[in-house]
Amino acid sequence: MSEDNWDARYRAQIAGARRAEPLPLLLQYAHLLPPPPAPALDLACGLGASSLWLAARGYHVSAWDQSAVAIEWLRAEAGRRTLPLDAQVRDVCRQPPPPASCRLLLVAHFLERALFPSLLDALLPGGLLIYQTHTVERPPGATGPSNPDYLLQANELLRLAAPLRVLAYREEGAVGYPPSAAAGLASLVARKV
Ligand SMILES: C[S@@+](CC[C@H](N)C(=O)[O-])C[C@H]1O[C@@H](n2cnc3c(N)ncnc32)[C@H](O)[C@@H]1O
Repeated sequence: MSEDNWDARYRAQIAGARRAEPLPLLLQYAHLLPPPPAPALDLACGLGASSLWLAARGYHVSAWDQSAVAIEWLRAEAGRRTLPLDAQVRDVCRQPPPPASCRLLLVAHFLERALFPSLLDALLPGGLLIYQTHTVERPPGATGPSNPDYLLQANELLRLAAPLRVLAYREEGAVGYPPSAAAGLASLVARKV
């Protein structure tokens, strides 16, 4: 989706006061997070609900997204909550995270396959990757992009993150009657050894 479309979408979300929630996967695996303070990066953060959650728990959070609308709102919201948070408008494909820069890397609902080597390099030893995004296999009516460039194939996230030690992985494809909230998503929690 183009920058303009994301800006428009966030403008509408902000105007409608529709509150973004932290990623449930992050909350589910909070016990595996490195202890704060630790450098954490929320890559392609959108409105940054997970960034705010992490900042409130004492992490040194960087939150990057190409949408100026989202980042402007996130900076203002962090200010309202008096949370320290480094929110930047940044094209992460042109400016990926530097090597050995984060102990926690969160990527939600964003896929750029060519970025994976940089993401793995960005983790410090012992650092944790939490990654969740949409899969090609999904139940009818599921949300998410339709362009296969932005959809994971079966087991693809495992392959992309192969050098890491997997702590948790879930990928249900389109199965389940009715499908669970995890259907149509691949979710990974993995540590750099
Ligand atoms: C589906 S949203 C996910 C936002 C957030 N992670 C979440 O789960 O709510 C995808 C985000 O990726 C951002 N994005 C797309 N391409 C990007 C790029 N090259 N650099 C930085 N952000 C990008 C969009 O602006 C959008 O905020």
